[in-house]
Amino acid sequence: MQNNSRWHYLETAEQVAEAACQQILNAATSAISERGKFKLVLAGGGTPEKVYRLLAESNADWANWHIYYGDERCLPADHQDRNSLMASRVLLDNVAIPANQVFTIPAERGPEQAAASYSLTVAEAGAFDMVLLGMGEDGHTASLFPGHQHQQDELVHAVYNSPKPPPERVSISAKALSNTRELIFLITGANKQEAVNLWRSGSDLPVATIEPENPIDIYIDSDAFKP
Ligand code: 6PG
Repeated sequence: MQNNSRWHYLETAEQVAEAACQQILNAATSAISERGKFKLVLAGGGTPEKVYRLLAESNADWANWHIYYGDERCLPADHQDRNSLMASRVLLDNVAIPANQVFTIPAERGPEQAAASYSLTVAEAGAFDMVLLGMGEDGHTASLFPGHQHQQDELVHAVYNSPKPPPERVSISAKALSNTRELIFLITGANKQEAVNLWRSGSDLPVATIEPENPIDIYIDSDAFKP
């Protein structure tokens, strides 16, 4: 487990979403006042949906938000299981972030081409201001799965044989996800308990490979944390 991790134990998934949303808005305010822009990496899966819904209801300086994705599923661009589609439906279609500041992973092109293209986008972005990540039941995060080998110096990986459908995906690397000023893990639900306990007991899970310089924040509900 990362040494510098702050665990926020909350009763419900709603409280997890509210607390994380507030930290994101605070990070946006300081990033924009210090550097004129806020570079945010969105998490995939279902857990972040509540956070995106709360953000969409918030006041923010949307014109200076820049949106990236931590990973994407290699499906057609309009497929309902795309992470980008959920984020658009719940957040991006409801706030005034300029379209040319939303950097979707072109996963419809297939893992290799999409990873090569998004590597240029990530290289150009440099350090992120905030990275959001979820965690799977096996301790995966983004599309970094247990047992998968990747070139460590890559910024973006082409992913095959994902144990979570669909099998082909694209993922920002652990190295590039760690290049951020702030990082939040969102973990809710009883099905995450085992992975949480393994992570806390030092197991070498993909979630443990995300190591920014600054402390990471883990927002977790009472269903997911049963020591
Ligand atoms: C994906 C995600 C993946 C997700 C976890 C947790 O594309 O599936 O990026 O890493 O965050 O699997 O998923 P849930 O939030 O749905 O439990």
